[in-house]
Amino acid sequence: MHDASITRLGPEPIALVEELLPRMTLREKLGQMTQHAYGVGDLEQAHRSVEQGDVGSFLNAGTLEIRNQLQRLAVEHTRLGIPLIFGRDVVHGFKTVFPIPLGQAASFDPALVERAAAAAAHEAAEAGVDWTFAPMVDVTRDPRWGRVAETCGEDPVLTAALGAAMVRGFQGQHLADGKHVAACAKHFAGYGASESGKDYNTTWIPEPLLRDVHLPPFKACVDAGVMSVMSAFNDLNGVPASVNAFLLQRVLKQEWGFSGLVVSDWAALMELLEHGVTEHPKQSALEAVRAGLDMEMATTTLRDHVGALVDEGLVSVASIDAAVRRILGVKYHLGLFDEPYRKPPTVSVALSAPHRAVARELARASVVLLKNHDGLLPLRRGLRKLAVVGPLAADGANQLGCWAFDGEAEASITLMDALASRLPEAEVSYVPGVSDTRSLDTSAFESTARVVASAELGIVCVGEDALLSGEAKCRAFLDLPGAQQALLERLGATGTPLVVIVMAGRPLLLEPVCQHAQALLYAWHPGTLGGEAITDLLTGAACPSGKLPISMPRAVGQIPVYYARRNTGRPPKADRTGVPKGTPLDPVDFDSSYLDLEVSPLFPFGFGLSYTNFGYAELRVTPPRAPIGSRISISVVVGNRGARRGTETVQLYVRDLVASMTRPIRELKGFRRVELDAGEQQTVSFELGPSDLAFTGRDLEPRVEPGRFQIWVGSDSNAALSASFELV
Ligand code: GLC
Repeated sequence: MHDASITRLGPEPIALVEELLPRMTLREKLGQMTQHAYGVGDLEQAHRSVEQGDVGSFLNAGTLEIRNQLQRLAVEHTRLGIPLIFGRDVVHGFKTVFPIPLGQAASFDPALVERAAAAAAHEAAEAGVDWTFAPMVDVTRDPRWGRVAETCGEDPVLTAALGAAMVRGFQGQHLADGKHVAACAKHFAGYGASESGKDYNTTWIPEPLLRDVHLPPFKACVDAGVMSVMSAFNDLNGVPASVNAFLLQRVLKQEWGFSGLVVSDWAALMELLEHGVTEHPKQSALEAVRAGLDMEMATTTLRDHVGALVDEGLVSVASIDAAVRRILGVKYHLGLFDEPYRKPPTVSVALSAPHRAVARELARASVVLLKNHDGLLPLRRGLRKLAVVGPLAADGANQLGCWAFDGEAEASITLMDALASRLPEAEVSYVPGVSDTRSLDTSAFESTARVVASAELGIVCVGEDALLSGEAKCRAFLDLPGAQQALLERLGATGTPLVVIVMAGRPLLLEPVCQHAQALLYAWHPGTLGGEAITDLLTGAACPSGKLPISMPRAVGQIPVYYARRNTGRPPKADRTGVPKGTPLDPVDFDSSYLDLEVSPLFPFGFGLSYTNFGYAELRVTPPRAPIGSRISISVVVGNRGARRGTETVQLYVRDLVASMTRPIRELKGFRRVELDAGEQQTVSFELGPSDLAFTGRDLEPRVEPGRFQIWVGSDSNAALSASFELV
């Protein structure tokens, strides 16, 4: 029977660990600090390493049988029988695939995101996974970076709320109940600031920015009890994250009191040689132990060299014990000492109806309605002839997105599947238009145009294949790949109204798309139930509620473009709305703007339309004046002013008007989804405490300063309804 007690990761010593540790040889300790990548290298050697106690963990061990076979070697054939821990990337689903994290973030719904993580955990746990390398809580403002797909977007407050929700979902209250997995907050830290949007690239992040933007989501995961943290590939301010003592020792373990384990990312210790901070793996091992790394993924730098470093007095056994204590603690909390083997489930939960229901609900909530000219959507009843275009409309694999290698494409409901089954009275014809999203072949354009011309409405699904985003999938251009834009233009010329659906792993440049779209839905990569969810929205069975978790740029030249910017000494005066892109105007203003493009994004953070509309009134702030340290209460009345039920994400933004450091012109400090019937009103309340108003000062310490604060409450980061309060 799995341990039913509530899991509490903390500094308290665990009797079993304290009894085991002194009995371990140094070699066995170094074995615990080593994670093998299953299938890499000689399998027989891997088995022997396990039997010699030289491996403490595997990643990607595949099936339950392989896991139990390796586990038997560890538990029954080694001197101390310490169980292995099995890790895998279960990032946005296992068999049931949910929208990519960037899409999940558009839901602004932590509770729903938590349910999805719990479903993923259950499916993974029954397949023999103990530990997922998720949530990824890097903040990024650069859509060129392929891993933007795995993030929760540009905002630390949204990322923190969703990252903590994923940790709760993955780990549950009872980690050892056979339905949950240990989580791993990654990639610590600053990875999302990779220079020029190239993966694995250098990051230079001043400590105030690091502490106010990049670290809070990791802190939220630690506060949620995350069992592990993964150090990042990037060098941060000159020191690679995997050997960065400021990050791992000072911030994570000392300031935050983190008691779980820190694992390096894939071969990151060997990459120190490429970084040029060490010239021999033995030096890398010394750097890693000194910085507070506990486990090495996929390579054996620690196992190969720490023994010698101990003999030479350069590394203390105590520091090794500290690392092994953390590793054994996670194994203990997972119940692996009691039940090291996983039994196959009597009834599998993989792709179960409840899990598919969550996937459909989350995919629905993640789609963002960006345009709906003349209320073209939802589709009117009585539509007789519909043309569906685009390879992504009928591709169950690509709609799953990046990091979905356990997903099953054949289980996907594509957009075409759903439309064909949900509009029986209409003739729904499908034509790909292009063979895939990267094809430059335009030979099918005329035949496709004929199909669209003869239809009452065209539904055109464009965007990126799944492999165009994710790790190492960075793009210098953010246009639709291949000939898709040309296809869209050709179809626009038919005169048939077009509903455009974008499936992508990142923000793309949408101005050219909008020109031909009467309605535009951004569906990210929506996962297994993507087609069903999008059809729920197209038919009006559900109402779009997604909000952008990341700004949509007008041009790559704007990047980084994000809402929480500073005002500068010369804020942009004239907005060059409508200037043809790239045509420089005569220099007239000496302000922070471009000669050839307006500075605002095409769609701002937090933006998303509905089939109804919401109004805001009666914004109240109490008390309007209060001593520092007080809590400020905010309330607003939200009303559904349209003709149908809908869900609004009420957003609260705050600006510290004058402070000793420049402060963002707006920062998200609260959000709440409210579902309202037509005509219904609801009062929504927020509270601001000192931690919401704190920032890192010139002395690098957190501080709240007296002075006036302005707040806005509304539908997106351009919310107009405003009030203010003062701290004295
Ligand atoms: C990859 C990724 C990391 C992942 C790990 C194991 O390189 O950077 O996010 O968890 O290796 O697959």
